[in-house]
Amino acid sequence: MLRTETVVLGAGGLVAQRLHQRLVHHPWFSLTAVAGSARFAGRSLNEVPWILEEARPPMPNITVEDIEDSGLIESLVQRGVRIAFSALPTEEARRLEPRFAAHGIAVFSNASAFRRDAGVPLVVPELNPEALVQASKKPLVHACATNCTLLPLVLPLAAINERFGVQHYTMRSEQGLSGGGQHYLEAALSAGMVDPAIPGEAEKTDAELRHVLGWEGESEVRCARVLRRDGHHVFVTVQTRDPVTLDALLDSLRNWEGNERCASLPSAPHKPLMLVDQIDPETHLFADGLGFTGRPDPSTDLKAGMAVAVGSVACPSSHTIRFEAYSHNSLRGAAGGLVYLAELAVSMDVLGL
Ligand SMILES: NC(=O)c1ccc[n+]([C@@H]2O[C@H](COP(=O)([O-])OP(=O)(O)OC[C@H]3O[C@@H](n4cnc5c(N)ncnc54)[C@H](OP(=O)(O)O)[C@@H]3O)[C@@H](O)[C@H]2O)c1
Repeated sequence: MLRTETVVLGAGGLVAQRLHQRLVHHPWFSLTAVAGSARFAGRSLNEVPWILEEARPPMPNITVEDIEDSGLIESLVQRGVRIAFSALPTEEARRLEPRFAAHGIAVFSNASAFRRDAGVPLVVPELNPEALVQASKKPLVHACATNCTLLPLVLPLAAINERFGVQHYTMRSEQGLSGGGQHYLEAALSAGMVDPAIPGEAEKTDAELRHVLGWEGESEVRCARVLRRDGHHVFVTVQTRDPVTLDALLDSLRNWEGNERCASLPSAPHKPLMLVDQIDPETHLFADGLGFTGRPDPSTDLKAGMAVAVGSVACPSSHTIRFEAYSHNSLRGAAGGLVYLAELAVSMDVLGL
């Protein structure tokens, strides 16, 4: 299979470098170009300071291009680039992503700018892949992945909703620092303290849940930052429509697969949900659906960090469920999830490649 040529929008940021890491050995995609802000434009990709904890994988010999260069997009088209992975901040995403889409380069975005726009599908691969098919049957040129906090909430909730019906849920989160980007992470680690407030996060998470599940009901959502590098931990209580027993609940979580077309994709976890007794934020960060690799190399192990760990599952009354869930915010919740989404689009043949 010929690998599809791709560009990453972002050179030195946290999600941008996760994207470089995920693409450098990817079996379907080739890291052909990187375009970013003026701070690294003109420098070799290998000279951009590497900010992830894992060692830098061998990068292709490419020069970072200036995303504001007026000839950039046509030059990318001439070089055969068909997909752009965007790790841009919201404002830059809103301004720049449509330019790539207008030239027929399919943009997959981790930014929130277009998540609620009609015509730009917001997709979790296991939940609503059909949203990638354009009503016009034209090739898809723009799609978004969700907020990182949504993943540990929505995947178990989808399993519960399918079996018992969700009438009401409450969630509170404890979110790792890297979810706020590189500067935020460094500042909090060096101060040794963090302001727990994350403005707008609860509203965004709840709205995106309703969008991808097509769910309507009552909810209470609270989000907080904690002093931990990576990993988003959620604590959830659900009121169900149908009666629940603990055995039936564990069975529904253990056996839930999500949409069947995902299973064969390179970045798909072996299983989306992994049951554990109690969540340990250190041990369970790199869940892959079968086990918990200690410190994997995300450039070669595309499945580690892509599953959601679910623990402390309880059924305190016949219509009440409690659980905790945990996932890697910059793998499943950002770059890994975005590449997974593009794999899904390729497998569904919606890009006109
Ligand atoms: N961190 C997470 O876990 C996470 C999860 C889900 C979604 N996201 C979203 O992913 C995006 C990137 O977040 P991050 O965590 O990687 O932030 P970050 O570490 O602060 O990096 C910021 C990125 O934005 C780019 N950038 C900044 N100003 C720019 C400009 N004027 N023009 C073009 N590019 C510019 C930078 O590109 P250069 O390196 O080229 O300067 C850099 O790659 C955000 O929209 C964020 O909401 C993040």
